[in-house]
Amino acid sequence: MSETVRETTIPQAAPHHASRWECFKSVRELTRRLAAPLSAEDCTIQSMPEASPTKWHLAHTTWFFETFVLAKIDPRREPYHPKFKFLFNSYYNAVGDRHPRPQRGLLSRPSLDEVLAYRHRIETDVLDAIAGAKLAPDVQALIDLGIQHEQQHQELLLTDLKHMLSCNPLRPAYQKNWPLTPIQAREPRWIRVAGGDRQIGHAGDGFAFDNETPRHKVWVHDFEMASHPVNNGEFIEFINDGGYRRPELWLSLGWDHVTARGWEAPLYWEKRDERWHMFTLHGMAPVELNTPVCHVSFFEADAFARWSQARLPTEAEWETAAATLPVEGNFLESGALHPLALREAPPEGTLAQVFGDVWEWTRSDYSPYPGFRPAQGAVGEYNGKFMCSQYVLRGGSCATPTGHVRASYRNFFPADARWQFSGLRLVRDA
Ligand SMILES: [Fe+2]
Repeated sequence: MSETVRETTIPQAAPHHASRWECFKSVRELTRRLAAPLSAEDCTIQSMPEASPTKWHLAHTTWFFETFVLAKIDPRREPYHPKFKFLFNSYYNAVGDRHPRPQRGLLSRPSLDEVLAYRHRIETDVLDAIAGAKLAPDVQALIDLGIQHEQQHQELLLTDLKHMLSCNPLRPAYQKNWPLTPIQAREPRWIRVAGGDRQIGHAGDGFAFDNETPRHKVWVHDFEMASHPVNNGEFIEFINDGGYRRPELWLSLGWDHVTARGWEAPLYWEKRDERWHMFTLHGMAPVELNTPVCHVSFFEADAFARWSQARLPTEAEWETAAATLPVEGNFLESGALHPLALREAPPEGTLAQVFGDVWEWTRSDYSPYPGFRPAQGAVGEYNGKFMCSQYVLRGGSCATPTGHVRASYRNFFPADARWQFSGLRLVRDA
């Protein structure tokens, strides 16, 4: 049995001014490199119904370009393979009627090599199309959407494979690059944010998903926000204070999950020799006290906030606080693939780690904005149909590609989801 960890080399994101051809090429290259350290077996198996195998992500992101871009350019185009649209579509979340999503991990065929050949062929055709005659504006928009869609799947590829590797008792590393940064304690400070008549949602040029629109008015009361996300040391205090054993701290449904599933710490945490350790993409590592806590559910974030005599922000509060900040932080391209401790104290009165590191749970359920209209056609099914029983997360994570998020970006997951890089930041009423 090999213990070898193959290197992941993560290329930098295409620069801001890059052409569509360059953006497409660099996004496709990044996906390929993310899968490169994995064996064909790693790429095939599926560890839980909500996750997908790497091979499926590789094929599905390609299916998107074949279906929505190449078939749009030439409606008479022969499909690459007559069955791939059933195997790798997303709108049914199923492989035909008899093979639901939980069985994506049973697709031993097509092989990984066949999927990579599919990727190569479709990629070449899309690059030729972009470089050829001027494309209609709707086709250009679909290519841009396909690029953003593939970036979403890059993050899912990493979180899904982390869960898959964590299920192996050997706790194998995806890459070895530990420890990540020098660690320094930073006292959280409360930063006052002025409320009032505000607007949230996407405005202006640049890409946005339909769920970020329309921009609309909200009323926000003055509030205070913590200077940085809750860290592991603070979360251990919550655990040591009986956080997971005190029903009064939990939402009723959250407490049901704690008791039914035996939660006693964030996902991937294990106690070894009386010390907390966690599974990371670098294998097992001691829990670092000053790093943002991650892999907590909405329920755990909410219980921690109640224990802290604070609360989670609404998404309007979060966006109001983040709207003018630069979108900088620890994203996928840093190569850490794990949240990092703050290196330098932020200037007095400023928020740190708003973007990158960990997605921050908000108290807002994922609902349509006033006047929301899903995008027309099959691509419109990506967001609107999920607006039920999910909560909004903001800010991106260490697995989000650079340039993919913005202040108005709305991610969403069910309240019990823990396998994303999800953490929290506290707010309190002013
Ligand atoms: Fe998708």
